[in-house]
Amino acid sequence: MAPSQFLAGLIWTSSFSSLVRADDDYRPTYHFVPDQNWMNEPNGLIKIGSEWHLFFQHNPTGNFWGNIVWGHATSTDLVSWTHLPTAIGNDDGVQSFTGTAWYDDANTSGVGTSANPPYLAFFTGYVPSSGVQDQRLAFSVDQGATWTKFQGNPIISKDEEAPHDVSGGLEARDPKVFFHDATKKWVMILAHGGQNKMTFWTSSDTKTWTWQNDFTSEDISRFPSSVTGWEVPDFFQLAVEGSSDKKWVLMFTPAQGSPATGNGVVGITGSFDGTVFKADPVDPTTMWLDYGRDFDGALSWENVPTSDGRRVIASVMNSYGGNPPTNTWKGMLSFPRTLKLKNIGNKLRFLQEPVEELSADSTSVTHLTDQTLTPAQTLLSDIHGRALDIQITFVPTPGSKLSLAVRKGTSQQTVVSYTQSNGSLSVDRSASGNIFYDPAAGGVQSAALSPDGSGAVQLRVLVDECSVEVYGGEGEVAISNLIFPATASDGLSLITTGGNVDLYDVEVLKVAL
Ligand SMILES: *[C@@H]1O[C@H](CO)[C@@H](O)[C@H](O)[C@H]1NC(C)=O
Ligand SMILES: *[C@@H]1O[C@H](CO)[C@@H](O)[C@H](O)[C@H]1NC(C)=O
Repeated sequence: MAPSQFLAGLIWTSSFSSLVRADDDYRPTYHFVPDQNWMNEPNGLIKIGSEWHLFFQHNPTGNFWGNIVWGHATSTDLVSWTHLPTAIGNDDGVQSFTGTAWYDDANTSGVGTSANPPYLAFFTGYVPSSGVQDQRLAFSVDQGATWTKFQGNPIISKDEEAPHDVSGGLEARDPKVFFHDATKKWVMILAHGGQNKMTFWTSSDTKTWTWQNDFTSEDISRFPSSVTGWEVPDFFQLAVEGSSDKKWVLMFTPAQGSPATGNGVVGITGSFDGTVFKADPVDPTTMWLDYGRDFDGALSWENVPTSDGRRVIASVMNSYGGNPPTNTWKGMLSFPRTLKLKNIGNKLRFLQEPVEELSADSTSVTHLTDQTLTPAQTLLSDIHGRALDIQITFVPTPGSKLSLAVRKGTSQQTVVSYTQSNGSLSVDRSASGNIFYDPAAGGVQSAALSPDGSGAVQLRVLVDECSVEVYGGEGEVAISNLIFPATASDGLSLITTGGNVDLYDVEVLKVAL
């Protein structure tokens, strides 16, 4: 993602971090944050054996953007993470910007051996003295534990980028690289900062690359012209649920034009022949993966065994540079979520759902079924918790508005509402706690959500120390935001105004690792 986006927070370097106890610093219960210091988006997500590897843009020496390396952590369940030393550093004076990873099982790169094929990481090298961003390779021959920068770097130089990049190779970044089985070629997709395009490149050995084509907003019918500055591409195939169809999906983060303003993540479906991505016309009402302010730079885990078969994505939650009021860390990983495609009504929709591994760490604290909620009642006010998974299925009567308040204190609450009259799911952060650290930290975000065929609406709300992620329906909309309430604001309430709602099922689970 664009480095300039993070510079706003530089004044907040954390000289007093040693005075702040970790548990006073909004450190989440079940979301990943760096052990210390800054992170922005995830990188190189790959499963190796039983371990989900997470790499991430990281400043190991400061709580602000700069001095960037690939931080590293692993998990066997996508919930608990083990912090590991820096995976790809900057000791050679070249910072390690965003990229992706792939298992080279045939050793076509030649950097491993046939007996021990290498794991490859493709990243953007940033040379501070010249401002050059070029493309580089690192590899691991010990199952992802340690990584070595390839001697022949860069694999795409500034001069090779220049004819295809208006900045002449100063803004070409975020390589997505994969092996395309049908053409037996490596494919790289590059973002070009401030430009509304990706470039497609191919290679037979991952070390020498040939530009193939530009993919621009003009190649996507009905793509809104306000959605600009494409960054952090991911590219993969997804099955269309309930059919034998498969689509290629280009997922990326435009810097401007998201529903919540600023950056966000879009998914574009289409077909791919090994060099040309032919995009389906987009529907601007279904292309955004999240309607909240804090879901950017999403990537998906590669090398997930077919026996699992999931496409799992995660993003960074933090759209405010160095401004959030945390002192020992900044930047949180969204809770990992599955991504699917399904026809609902006459539209192909992206469906997202938190990974099911969360249930192993969750304990039900209340479970109500088949109950009518009237405007005179308040439910859930006896429940307290700061790390929760709340699941509600209900049928709204005409004119009703169901409101779930989370992280509720005497004067604080974050309110998730569903308004029947206009089918609007919203999250109101205006009284959520500290919203004064950044102009974009408050306000209301909403998304259109229709009841299912039986008239029911499903909500899933993940609450943690400083975040609320809301999923609606089968996951066709998501709204993810950071919040900074007081520790004492740990209450809940469930009310309706304007009419009854029929609660089919309400379950609150506490998450503890
Ligand atoms: C794998 O790479 C090694 C080291 O370059 C090379 O000796 C070997 O022939 C390669 N194997 C294949 C199958 O490409
Ligand atoms: C839906 O209606 C509610 C209540 O009148 C209003 O607050 C909200 O802004 C509306 N949402 C949209 C998206 O029109």
